[in-house]
Amino acid sequence: MATILVLHGPNLNLLGNREPQLYGSDSLQQINQRLTDLAIAKGHHLQALQSNAEYELIDRIHDAKKEGVNFIIFNPAAFTHTSIALRDALLAVDIPFVEVHLSNIYAREQFRQTSFFSDIAVGVITGLGTKSYELALAAALEELNSSI
Ligand code: DQA
Repeated sequence: MATILVLHGPNLNLLGNREPQLYGSDSLQQINQRLTDLAIAKGHHLQALQSNAEYELIDRIHDAKKEGVNFIIFNPAAFTHTSIALRDALLAVDIPFVEVHLSNIYAREQFRQTSFFSDIAVGVITGLGTKSYELALAAALEELNSSI
């Protein structure tokens, strides 16, 4: 049994109400529940955290190493485009991760087209709405199966 950690960055607590034309109508709770159910169905354990604070996400990544988390699914939200500190945290713990975005960051403003994570991620899934998370989980499970 593997442990998968799903991390959501700032403002994603507002999913469902926040710019639904961009981010869809599912709440964060609904997304997390679906991912948890899918992981359990495959015999794995899933934890999720959303935070609006950069340091909390950094601390959670550090703790993930101590806890033996096997894989991270990460939507860094606006920190995607700003956070060298989160990038360094992921490099430090060396846990494989998939970068996820609900919207297609490459079809939006120029400033969203830079990610501090894409080049160190196993892969990037962007623009498929809440399906982005489910596809990331499928990719994580496949990676975990091939590394066992
Ligand atoms: C986002 C895209 C980011 O540019 C934005 O700041 C977000 C959400 C997405 O999931 O599409 O908050 O990561």
